Formats: sequence, C-alpha cells, structure tokens
Amino acid sequence: MQQLQLAIFDLDGVICDTAKYHYLAWKRLAQELGFDFTEKDNERLKGVSRMRSLEILLEVGGLEKTEEEKAKLAEKKNTWYVEYILQMDSSELLPGVLDFLEELKENEVKLALGSASKNARTILQRLGITPLFDAIVDGNLVTKAKPDPEVFTLGAELLGIPPENAVVFEDAQAGIEAALAAGMKVIGVGDPKVLKHAQHVITGFASFRFADLLEILKQE
Ligand code: BG6
Ligand code: MG
Repeated sequence: MQQLQLAIFDLDGVICDTAKYHYLAWKRLAQELGFDFTEKDNERLKGVSRMRSLEILLEVGGLEKTEEEKAKLAEKKNTWYVEYILQMDSSELLPGVLDFLEELKENEVKLALGSASKNARTILQRLGITPLFDAIVDGNLVTKAKPDPEVFTLGAELLGIPPENAVVFEDAQAGIEAALAAGMKVIGVGDPKVLKHAQHVITGFASFRFADLLEILKQE
C-alpha cells in the first residue's frame, strides 16, 4: 500500500460483541415459533442482513412465511434487540479497540464505519464513539448487502479516498469478500480457520497497535 488514508471498521464482532444480543432476540423469536435456535445456528447470521437472517432462521425451523408475516417477525425481533442495545455502554467496547481507533486518528488516518446494521448509529452512541468516525455507512444507507462491496466503497467515496488506500477490519466471511471486491486491504478479526480469505487475521485489538498494522501493510 502506498499510503494508508482510511480504516473502515465493521461494527458487530469487531468494535463490540452485539452478536450475543442478536442471538438472544432470534432465539426468543424461534422459541415463540416453536423451535430451538442454537449458538451454532447463530454463526450463520454474522454479517448477514436482518431479512436474510430471518430467512435462515425460518429455514432452521422448517417454516415458510409470507412476505407480510416475515416483515412482522423481523420487526418483532428488532424491538427485542433494540431493548438490549439500549442497555449498552462504553464497557462493551472490545478490549483495545478504543486505543487503536484513537491511535489511527492521531496518525491522521480517517475512520469509517461499514456495517450491515440499521441500528449501528444507536450502538455507536451507546458506546460513546460516534465523534471518532469521519463517515458512517450502515444498513440504512446501502441497498446491497455484504458480500457486495457497496458498504465499503461508499465510505471511501464519501471521504474521497481511493480504495487502494483503505484497510477494512472484518469478522465475517461475507465482509471479507466485500472488502476484497472493493479493492481494499482486509484484516480479519477472529479465527484464521474461519476467515480464510483475509490477507491477515488478528484475534482482536488487545495487543494490536498502529505500528503492527503498518508492518502488515508493508508486506502486502
Ligand atoms: C450485522 C450483523 O452487523 O448486522 C448481523 O452481523 C445482523 O448479524 C445485521 O443481522 C443487521 O442488523 P440490524 O441491526 O439491522 O438488524
Ligand atoms: Mg461483523
């Protein structure tokens, strides 16, 4: 990479662990519909849009619903999910992530959010980190879900930065594919066995600093 100008962060699973709240809300919906939804099933929902998540859930339960019924079920799940996230505060920032974001800012790297969630702004607010972001692209702004690159290309476009000068941090396979399709560098956050296509995988930000990022990008 010639010059690192922009770092784009996925939200769920990278900045905070909202997957557990998605899981609680989906599980409650599944129980109401008469079947069980396991943590393993929940893995399939990471990085996936709300509607697609519902379709996967219904598939697990072997149920078919009309479009109208699906809209109502998705809304119900979201009402429960929002109840959970409204209880969040800065203690739910994943270890080291705040220091890392601040270090990027100090080094004049712009920050963007690239999340599929329509609740992303609420979560950033609860975590107290909204002002750190130069651009926020969420599920309300994009028409195509990851692995489509739109959620990342839009962030770079809004800030007038070429994709090759951007790096994406992602915990979901669909998000890694989206970043690669956008022509950006991508760092997986999580398990290297799962995030096979990422150029580099880290376990989190607890011991990851700006200098480590520069080192990785130098090798690309
Ligand atoms: C993604 C999550 O960030 O957002 C998915 O990884 C979730 O699990 C998706 O389904 C949509 O979230 P929301 O808040 O719009 O229902
Ligand atoms: Mg994620």
